[in-house]
Amino acid sequence: MAEETAERGENAYDWQSLMFLYNAAIKEVRTKLDIMNDEFQYIHQYNPIEYIKSRIKTPNSIAKKLSRHGLENTMENMVEHINDIAGVRIVCSFTSDIYRLAEMIGKQKEFTILYIKDYMKHPKESGYRSYHMLITVPIQTTNGINPTKVEIQIRTIAMDFWASLEHKIYYKFEGNAPEYISRELRDCAAITSKLDAKMLSLNEAIIAEKERQQS
Ligand code: GTP
Ligand code: MG
Repeated sequence: MAEETAERGENAYDWQSLMFLYNAAIKEVRTKLDIMNDEFQYIHQYNPIEYIKSRIKTPNSIAKKLSRHGLENTMENMVEHINDIAGVRIVCSFTSDIYRLAEMIGKQKEFTILYIKDYMKHPKESGYRSYHMLITVPIQTTNGINPTKVEIQIRTIAMDFWASLEHKIYYKFEGNAPEYISRELRDCAAITSKLDAKMLSLNEAIIAEKERQQS
């Protein structure tokens, strides 16, 4: 490992080529997801994906994360240790869509799944729920194939609503929010979870009702 790092040397990576790879990886993932959504439409007669957001982490935020982890601000550390430089967020309709999409992503031959974090089955202390997958996508360049990491987050509209607002509120307190605020946010998370469950069973009832009417 140490040898490999030494061999690559400090200048083995340059910022622009790295950013090119992360951008290309996001494009690959988004295209695959578009095709999956179309296939889903064809099989289940509806689109599970409400919308997709993607972003590249800013240099500033990469540097902050490295320093939080006690690591020197080098491109090597960034490639090795920062897993969410390329991020894709899939927002879907129902909780059941999350597992269906995750399964479809898992079956993509070109993707390699490095790990999965299921914060739906095991919500975070904050109340955060989502399904995370860290994958690598092979990016072909003239120098060969570069497996490039992309963090995929899959969540419902309700989970996304909660996470976006919670993030804004927490940001204001720089992580040191008073206990009652954290408690209220956990309450809100429980409400969104209930809403998701209700919407899912309502959707199932509607499908069953339509089938009854058609038969
Ligand atoms: P980060 O250092 O935040 O990237 O966390 P991590 O490397 O331990 O990974 P984790 O899977 O816990 O979180 C990755 C991402 O999930 C974060 O960058 C956020 O986008 C999201 N996330 C995780 N926990 C929370 C949370 O409590 N609230 C909100 N709003 N988002 C969260
Ligand atoms: Mg992150």
